[in-house]
Amino acid sequence: MSPASLMLQGNSFQISDNWPGYSLDLFTYPQHYYGDLEYVLIPHGIIVDRTERLAKDIMQDIGDNDIVVLCVLKGGYKFCADLVEHIKNLSRNSERFISMKVDFVRLKSYHNDQSMQDMQIMGGDDLSKLTGKNVLIVEDIVGTGRTMKVLLNNIEKYKPKMIKVASLLVKRTSQPDGYRPDYYGFEIPDLFVVGYALDYNEHFRDLNHICVINDHGKAKYRV
Ligand code: HPA
Ligand code: MG
Repeated sequence: MSPASLMLQGNSFQISDNWPGYSLDLFTYPQHYYGDLEYVLIPHGIIVDRTERLAKDIMQDIGDNDIVVLCVLKGGYKFCADLVEHIKNLSRNSERFISMKVDFVRLKSYHNDQSMQDMQIMGGDDLSKLTGKNVLIVEDIVGTGRTMKVLLNNIEKYKPKMIKVASLLVKRTSQPDGYRPDYYGFEIPDLFVVGYALDYNEHFRDLNHICVINDHGKAKYRV
């Protein structure tokens, strides 16, 4: 295997296990996180650029349909907002007309950096509104895929016409049989990451870049 690399494999953006990331000193980030981070894994600009391409792919596949975008809160809000914005821009500049509704569902399964056994679906709007609709679920990160499978099972009960899943990140976990979303931005190593709305106990959502948290940061914000 090549040394520390961002690998190009087809159209999948893979960040290899030995990728050292970028020094924090190359970018700006909130002062209240100084000392809490190890390095930048994905700078904000690359996230936005990659999201634009996902928007194009999604438009190409389902751009002739009206879609309901189902944003999985809270971690998915940045990715969802940027993705919807890109889809709107692409649709404005093309012959295609796409009508989008954005809805929200909230899940919670993490405590500190550990996934909990039970996943709660909370604050879900009335999911029966999804019946007969083309649904695009927008998530921040897929790990084992357990969360996504539970969510998909729940939504399928309401008989949507189509369900697609877009996740900004896919984490390479020890379970290789893992679930793969229809669209994803980056495949990352099995690291706990924060930023761009991904949190550690509700902290770091206000960080623009996706970063790896260090032990000091973990201890400081542990609950
Ligand atoms: N960071 C934040 N939230 C998460 C992660 C992560 O690495 N994995 C699953 N939820
Ligand atoms: Mg999440």
